[in-house]
Amino acid sequence: MARVSPTFGRTSLPDFWDELYSRGGDAWDLGRAAQPLVDFLDTTPPPRGRVAVPGCGRGHDARLLAAHGYEVTAFDFVPSVLDVARRLAAREHVTVNFEQRDVTCYCAIDPARRAEYVRALAGTLRAGGWLLACFFPLRAQSAGPPFVVSPDEVRRLLAPAFRIERAFAPLRSARGRQGREWMILARRTGA
Ligand SMILES: C[S@@+](CC[C@H](N)C(=O)[O-])C[C@H]1O[C@@H](n2cnc3c(N)ncnc32)[C@H](O)[C@@H]1O
Repeated sequence: MARVSPTFGRTSLPDFWDELYSRGGDAWDLGRAAQPLVDFLDTTPPPRGRVAVPGCGRGHDARLLAAHGYEVTAFDFVPSVLDVARRLAAREHVTVNFEQRDVTCYCAIDPARRAEYVRALAGTLRAGGWLLACFFPLRAQSAGPPFVVSPDEVRRLLAPAFRIERAFAPLRSARGRQGREWMILARRTGA
């Protein structure tokens, strides 16, 4: 029988995340951009353009993208963490448009909402727009969040609206994440 986390429903609420941030329960925050993103931008940078970062937290990935010349809008639904994100961006003199919005986040949300998440992505991107995603964790480490992800499920959910162009293990992952991350570069289909 599948293990059901008592936090499933609560992860949809900003207060749940706000509380984690305020009591230091934010072990996901590496204090810097995710290594897979750093390596992706160094090795195969997409053409400059507009980028959306859902569930940006303190905005480390968003700042990296902005420093590389992308026009970045980053979303989170916790006001206090957006305040920090804005301060960090100002300190580093990079421009990021941080917006408070419920956008859903794949590994952070109740897994029952994953199809909804893909619909939100599909609605955000124009046809031909790119989705770069790093999925984690491929094996469960706790009851979640983050909730375990499977490449088969991701492929199935994306299939109607996206064509996966590349699926690969990141070159490098942070300690504790090695072998548990999986990346895709996919393109929004449609006319
Ligand atoms: C696991 S944290 C990752 C934060 C950041 N990407 C990082 O790597 O440090 C998930 C983030 O998504 C945000 N989040 C979760 N569900 C959300 C939703 N439905 N809408 C907007 N933000 C959400 C949380 O507030 C939190 O900042």
